[in-house]
Order: sequence, then structure tokens, then C-alpha cells
Amino acid sequence: MPATNTMPTATTETATLTVGNKTLQLPVIKGTEDEKAIDISKLRGETSYITLDHGYMNTGSCLSSVAFIDGERGILRYRGIPIEQLAEKSTFTETAYLLIYGKLPARDELDQFNHVLTRHSMIHEDMKRFLDGFPSTAHPMSILSAMVCSMSSYYPESLEPHRKDLIGLTISRLLAKMPTIAAFSHKKSVGQPFTYPDNKLSYAANFLHMMFAVPPEDYHVDEDVARALDLLLILHADHEQNCSTSTVRLVGSSQANLFASIAAGICALWGPLHGGANQEVMNMLEMIHEDSDNVDKYVGMAKDKKSNFRLMGFGHRVYKNFDPRAKILKQACDTVLQKLGVHDPLLEIAQKLEEHALRDSYFIEHKLYPNVDFYSGIIYKAIGIPTNMFTVMFAMGRLPGWLAQWKEMSESPNTKIGRPRQIYVGPALHDYVPMEKRG
Ligand code: CMC
Repeated sequence: MPATNTMPTATTETATLTVGNKTLQLPVIKGTEDEKAIDISKLRGETSYITLDHGYMNTGSCLSSVAFIDGERGILRYRGIPIEQLAEKSTFTETAYLLIYGKLPARDELDQFNHVLTRHSMIHEDMKRFLDGFPSTAHPMSILSAMVCSMSSYYPESLEPHRKDLIGLTISRLLAKMPTIAAFSHKKSVGQPFTYPDNKLSYAANFLHMMFAVPPEDYHVDEDVARALDLLLILHADHEQNCSTSTVRLVGSSQANLFASIAAGICALWGPLHGGANQEVMNMLEMIHEDSDNVDKYVGMAKDKKSNFRLMGFGHRVYKNFDPRAKILKQACDTVLQKLGVHDPLLEIAQKLEEHALRDSYFIEHKLYPNVDFYSGIIYKAIGIPTNMFTVMFAMGRLPGWLAQWKEMSESPNTKIGRPRQIYVGPALHDYVPMEKRG
């Protein structure tokens, strides 16, 4: 395996910047895949200027060796390995190990990792009582974020996030307990008793068991369903510096504990422009279905700036060609539905929508392609996951990435507390006005 890079390569190239009466030669660095960055770390110190970059469209926040994306060529790699190979050959826990520890595990390392993940799969019995306090209508993302944050109170040693002897344990606890919390939050919403983890099962199969088993009936996990879920988890496992991962890093940079950092990432993921899009895609497909499958109307609305409507599951900040995860999922969608004998009219609508959009000049010019959220919901639905759990599924999948990125951040000598600057545009200095004199 190629060595893991932790440092960028210096280049002889520089960028010349003249501001005020100063001219700076700013170093240019490059990464493994020759992507280049102008290093502006000395800019403010030497000129008093800062840069302004809404939405961080042009800003690199860190050096990372976890994942690589080439948005122009539709490439995603975890630790150098193409996503297509991992999707075909790996398992979720092996991929998690790869992301977190930087290499594919040897057989005994993977066995040990899987063993630890099953050992920690139960949650503290008292935590079940938290669930009683939530209304049955609570969104499972609110339960998940609250429960993950509260784990720090059960493992107080985690409040010292840099104790090297504990990082591995906290990581394992999070990976092991996340499916349990997720499944319990679902059970709460449907009013069924909790099903405890079964350590004989694989990660994905165990989650399905906790989701769907009920005391009066036998429940056997369908291997095809477990494999489909495992694939979905692998495809979501990391995506470099997206909104939730950047949140995890930012919160972690203040040396908040790992549970708190992950809970913050879960909250960031919830938004409909990020992980919440998978739930929105399903709502959109259902809306189109109820509206006589009128795909043209919705493509038209998405192009109309006055309508405020976007095609959910389309577009990406980084991918400007295609999202390789969506390609894999589109194929998996066909296979899984066929294997399960499910006919879902929403799949046909999704396929039609994709065809229409990809022929349309608006989508071509704006480089808008289906993203990972476009087809994932149809598979989740086919395997029985309710729509309000879709973003929770994304969170379960993304957890290894958050952990890997947090670990990298906490181990990096370059890490400083994340603290962007601003340009103040509020009122200029003026005096406090006593109440009786205010107009
Ligand atoms: N439907 C219609 N128009 C769109 C869409 C869309 N889904 N996405 C972007 N556009 C247009 C947008 O109106 C703008 O047009 P113009 O330049 O004419 O004003 C242009 O494309 C650029 O959009 P943007 O919002 O400035 O681009 P961004 O990089 O800030 O946003 C995005 C990326 C993913 C938030 C956005 O494409 C979007 O809102 N997509 C729908 C939500 C979605 O599917 N999110 C999941 C993202 S992938 C999984 C994840 O990372 O969570």
C-alpha cells in the first residue's frame, strides 16, 4: 500500500499578491493528486487583509489523507482506494477501519475490530429512559443527536478527548452504539418494544434485526437486504470536508469531547441541503406521483427561479460531472428491487426525472447531476426503512468518516481552534440611547 501522506509537497511555484503597498510571494503547495493551493497563512499578519469566501467555495481548511474527490472526473477514493472497488469488495466495518486507521486491516485486526464493535453494541439501560421523554412524533435525527451527545455523561473519561489510550475505545463505542440508538429511536416512534442487539449478526444485519424484529414473531435477516444496506453505508462513509465533517472538525478543534463533536455533525447533516436531502427526495417523488407523474412540470419548476423549488437529489458543490456514488446506487436500485420483487412507481419517476433533467440545457449548463441522495431513498424504502429514518441512515454511514477526520484533526500538529474572521458591516460607532429618548 502506498505510504500515507501527511504533508503537502512544496512547489517552486508562488502566487504574487499585491495589496495596498505590499507585494507578497505566496507559496503554492500541492497534494498527492496535484491539486494546488495558495498558502495564505501569513496574509493577515503581513498585510492586515483577510480573504472573504462565502460558503468556503475556494477555501481549503486542512490537509487530509482520508478521502480524495475529483469533482470534474467523478472520482471518489477512500485512503486512495476507488469507491467502486470498496463497493464491490469490502464491508462497512472493513471500510470503517480503513478510513479511521488509514489502512486495510489484516484478518486478525478486522476480527478484533468486529469483536469490539459487537461487545459495545448495547447502550446503558438508563439511556432508554431518555426515549420516554421524547414525543412519539420526534424526528429520529433529534433523538440521535441528543442521545449521542449524552453518551459523554456515561463515559466521563471521554471529556479528555486527547487521551491516546481512550480514543480507540470512544471510537468503538460510537460505532457500536449508533445503530442501537438509531433503531431504538425508530421503535419509540412506532410504539414497539426495543429489540436488543444480537452479537452473532454482522453490523448491517444487526441493525435490521433491531429495527424490525418484534417479540411475538421470528425474524430472519435477509442476506440480500443486509448486503444492500452494507453497500449504502460504505457509499456514505466519507466525503472529505463537507458541511457535517467540517462541523465535526470545527467543534473538535475547541477540544470538545468526541461525542459532542459527532452530535454536532449529526445536527449539520440534518439540513435538507445536506443529508436531509434523501428524505426530501422521497417526499418530492411522492408529490410528483400524486400529481399524475408530471415530471415535466417539476423539471420546469426547478428551472424557474421564482418558484423556489429545487430538484432534490440533484447538484453538488464538488461534483460537476457525475457523482460516482449515484452511479453505483442507480444500478443497485435495479438489482435490489428486482431481488426483493418490489415494484416501486417512484423508481420509474426517478429514472424519468433523471432522463429529462440530463437532456435539459439548464441542468447541463449548471452541471447538475443526480447525487448520492437521489436513489438511496428508493433502496431504503424497498428494505422497509421509513422515510423519517433516511437521514439517520446517512449519519450511520458517515460516522466512520467523521471519526477518521476528527482523529486526523486531533493528531495533526497544524490544528488550531477553528475561528474564521469576518468583515463587519453593521452600524458604525454610536452612543447608547436611554429608553426615554428612543424614537
Ligand atoms: N435544482 C435546481 N437548480 C439547482 C439545483 C437543484 N437541485 N442545485 C443547484 N441549482 C442551481 C442554483 O439555482 C444555482 O443557479 P444560478 O447560478 O442560476 O443561480 C446554481 O445551480 C448553483 O447552485 P448553488 O446552490 O449556488 O450551488 P452550491 O454548490 O452552493 O449547492 C447543493 C450545492 C447540493 C446545496 C445544491 O445543488 C442543492 O441545493 N441541491 C439540492 C439538495 C441536495 O440534493 N443536497 C444533497 C447534496 S449531496 C449529499 C450531501 O453532501 O449531503
